[in-house]
This record gives sequence, C-alpha cells and structure tokens, in this order.
Amino acid sequence: MTKVHVHKHDAVIVGAGGAGLMAALYASREVNVAVISKLYPTRSHTGAAQGGIGASLGNIGEDKWEWHAYDTVKGSDYLADQDAVDVLCKDAVDTVVELEHLGLPFDRLENGRISQRRFGGHTNNDTGRPVERACHAADRTGHMILQTLYQQCLKNNVNFFDEYQAVDLIRVGDTVRGVVTVNIATGDFHIFHSKAVLFATGGWGRCWEITSNAHSLTGDGAVLCLRNGIPLQDMEFFQFHPTGIFKLGILITEGVRGEGGVLINSEGERFMKRYAPSIKDLASRDVVSRAMFLEMKAGRGINGKNYVHLDVTPETVNKYYEEDGEDRRITREYIEAKLPDIADFTRTYLGVDPVREPMPVQPTAHYAMGGVPTDVDGRVLLDENKTVLPGLYAAGEVACVSVHGANRLGTNSLVDLVVFGKRSGKAMAAYCKAAKLQPLPDAPEARMVAEFERLRSNTGNTRPDTIRKAMQHTMTEKVGVFRVQEPMDEALEEMTDLKAQFIDDVYIEDKGKIFNTDLLETWELGNLLDLARVTAASAAARPESRGGHARDDFPERDDENWLKHTLCSLNEDGSLSLTYKDVVLGRYEPKPRVY
Ligand code: FUM
Repeated sequence: MTKVHVHKHDAVIVGAGGAGLMAALYASREVNVAVISKLYPTRSHTGAAQGGIGASLGNIGEDKWEWHAYDTVKGSDYLADQDAVDVLCKDAVDTVVELEHLGLPFDRLENGRISQRRFGGHTNNDTGRPVERACHAADRTGHMILQTLYQQCLKNNVNFFDEYQAVDLIRVGDTVRGVVTVNIATGDFHIFHSKAVLFATGGWGRCWEITSNAHSLTGDGAVLCLRNGIPLQDMEFFQFHPTGIFKLGILITEGVRGEGGVLINSEGERFMKRYAPSIKDLASRDVVSRAMFLEMKAGRGINGKNYVHLDVTPETVNKYYEEDGEDRRITREYIEAKLPDIADFTRTYLGVDPVREPMPVQPTAHYAMGGVPTDVDGRVLLDENKTVLPGLYAAGEVACVSVHGANRLGTNSLVDLVVFGKRSGKAMAAYCKAAKLQPLPDAPEARMVAEFERLRSNTGNTRPDTIRKAMQHTMTEKVGVFRVQEPMDEALEEMTDLKAQFIDDVYIEDKGKIFNTDLLETWELGNLLDLARVTAASAAARPESRGGHARDDFPERDDENWLKHTLCSLNEDGSLSLTYKDVVLGRYEPKPRVY
C-alpha cells in the first residue's frame, strides 16, 4: 500500500535556489508558504553562479539602466521582449541594494561602495568600452545570495521541505491545486495542496556531455509543465559558457576575463582580437564559444585537443592591459582575493595554479534561455495569445519571461532570479489572498504511483546510464554549439527512440523505497529525454542563426521571418507541435551585431 500524506499551504514553491527563495521571502510576508526542494536549499545551483550580479550602480564608471537594457537586448540577438528587459534592468539597481541590506557580504571598493567588475557584453553605450557592472562577493556571488536569502526565509517562518522530489503538478482544467512529491528519505508520496504553485527548479544542462550544471539540473519543473498542457518557449536557445574546465565542464567564471584574463590558442595568439576586435575576450558568450570552437576545429586547440588556454597570470594580463592602453595592472595577490574559488577549483581539479599558469578550458553547456513562458509577474502563459493559467507561476532559469532571448548576458541570471523571484512572490501572495482553496481531485498521486511502480518493476535490459550517455552524446554532436539540418533531424528521431527505449527497456537495480536514488535519477532521465526532444524539435524548425542557435547551413539572422518566439507543446498522443509568438520590440530596432 502506498502511503500518501497531505499538506495544506496557501502557496507552494518548488525549488530553493535564488528565485524560489526570493519568491518565498516575499510571499511569506503575506501568506503561508511551503518551499519544496530535492536538495538542502543552500546546495541549490544558484551557488554555482560565481562572477557577479549585473546592476547599473555606476560605482566605478558612469552607467545607466538603459545601457544595461540595450546590452541585454543586443546580447539576446533581439529576441528578448524589450518591455520585460526594461523591468529587469531598472529593478536590478534597487534589488541589489536590497540584497545588501538583507546582509549580502558584497566586496567593497575603498570608498565603501559595492565592488563591480567587467563582464562579457556589458558596455558603456557611448564609447563601446567595457563597463564595470557586475556586483560581486569575490567569485561566490550566487553562493552568498543563497545564504542570505535562506537566512531571511528562516527568519520569516517559511516552511521548508528539504529532499522532497516534485513529480507532478495537480491541474484541474484551468485551476492549479498543488503538487505531488516524493519524500526521498522514505519513498512516501506527499501531496501539497495549495492555491498557487511556483516552479523555480532551474535548468537542464545535463542533456549535454560537458556541462557546468550540477547533477540535479534535470529540468523537473519545465517537464511537469510540459506534461500538464503548458508549452515550452524558445527551447532551441541553450547557452554554452566559453570557459568550463576541460573535460569536467565545471564553470570558470567570466569574472576571470572581467579581471583581465585572456583566451590563448596553441599559437600563443589572443584569438578573440580577430573575432571581436573591439570588445575581444569580453564579447558575449555565444560569440566567444563559437570562436573557441572554430579555433579548435582549425587545429589551434592546445596540443591539438579540444581546449584553449585561459590566462589570468599577471604577466599576461598586464602585457595586454598595456597593449590596450589601459592604465590598470594586477598582481597575484589581487587575483587570489578576487577569484579565490576559481584558484581553488583549478588547483584541486587540474593541479594548475592560475596565478602562475594558464587554465585549460572548453565551452560547457550552461544555461537555458528558453523555458516555461511567463509574464513579468511570473504568471505562466498558455499560448501565443498570452492566456494566463491562474495560480501557476515560474521564475528563474526554468522560466522564459523572455529577457534573455537567444543568448543571455553574463550576470543576468542572478538578476533574473532576484527581480522576477520577488515579483512572482508578490503576485502569488496577492493571488492567494483573493483565491479559495479548491478541493483536490481523487487520488492526484495515482499517475505517479503507477509510473514509479512501473520503473521499479521493469525487467528490461538497459541501464539508465546507457541511455543517458547516448542522449548526451547526440545532443553535443547534433544540437550543440554549431548546428545543421540533417543532424538535428536525426537528433530529434534519436530522442524519440531513446524515450521509447527508456519506457520499454530501462531497469533499475534498487527496488527499495528509502533514498532510492537509482529510481529517482531514472525518473529524472525521462525528464531530460523529453526536454532534449523538445530542444531538438524547436531547433530543427528554425532555419536561421541567432544567439545560441548557430547554423552552418543558415549562417544569417533572418528578422523578416524568424523574429519570433517558438512555443513547443506535447500532445496527448505524444507528438509535439510548434507555434510561434511575436517578440515585444521597443526602443531598440534589430541591427546587425558588431563586435
Ligand atoms: O561566469 C560566471 O560567473 C557565470 C555567471 C552567469 O552565468 O551569469
């Protein structure tokens, strides 16, 4: 007999990273809130965001939120909705100050103001020169955001349910009534009955072989929405961060280049000068990742391998500062103070001391620009007419507001978490205060109890790892940094076949209930397969190059036909359908990108 427990709260938030905690903090000021997380909250992936949170404080040089907005729209290759970008960049300023007041230990300038550093794509719009916009706490900015918000939530009596895996959304027609979860420690099903639900479950970088994403990033919130009749938006746009540790994918922050680090090929050349003569190593991520890929393809990877060097040794940095006519210089002590975690990672994982020698890096699958469509208050949208599904919210990487369009600027993920986390929390609280708790349908857990039983008792021949490796390999080769029609079509077919194999033939070894990670990770693999399939389908249908979707066979951006958002839905018969939605334009007319 499956044991089912029922909990009642006004609002349920799934995910305890920056967006979930910020939403919880705000919602809990007005209504009763539960936060469900499959991890201990401070282990959430926000903790891996290193280099900074963008806000035009202008603490070092002149800056304006409008410049931040323009950089964001340009970086997005004009696919971002400009009304939402304005909200993001304007609200960023006050929200960063608010984080400071909540206790976030930002690095300081000598005058006591919050320290800011350069980051890719952030410019002074008048001069085109890099501007210091990334507010940071050494290279642990995300980690500090998590700690600060978690403490504030505890103080505010948010109810935390740690190590609970959300496995289904309870949707009845056009109402949302809670979520079905599994307590990982016991294997029991727990129903969280609520007036509103917010997903803040992060991304799905685990679809690819080399990724900066933690093992937990399996797109659970996105897939629960997809399976409950909600389309996913702009899934073809997935960001490859240029600097992952070679073979491991672990992030080396763009803050390294913000502090003067440069990318060097096997010929000792600072090759970004050729690809982006003006902004060089601080070009936006899609541009830098593609340049690295082309260097490696041309045989200029270090030792002929798939990596280049990221050099932040003072000798190299100061040489290029001098060449670029910059009056700043750095020392080893400065790097140790500004990038302590990076120094630690590369010493530990590579045996490389970054203040004395360059680091081997390669592009790493990093961030989903697409996701669950929402408005600027986190309300989930059902279609191209922007119909709201009352009571359902999404915020953070799982959501597509859309402020990142086809390519996100570095630091804007943390801004997105706190700005839209806060707005969603407030909107959800207002909704809960006006709404009545609707009754639960009969046995809302039944579908997932059956699914888990099926997985547990499957007597097939394939271990999940075999399917996972095949998925990751195909997605890397065929839906990676560069794309072409036929391989993408093949990837779509392969994902469909792998999902069928997963259903028919996957088997797990642990048949128990307690901490059954074999079972849960297998279920998560099913989520990744669905998201990989949606990604391949959305990508194969877009015959242009834009941001993170770069096609060898269609190298140009096509604004006339493709300045539009993709919506991909899962039909009842398991097929996918694509529809499209207009991009919200504003002050900035699409222009060719100049670097
Ligand atoms: O490079 C980094 O520190 C990553 C930041 C981001 O993804 O925004």
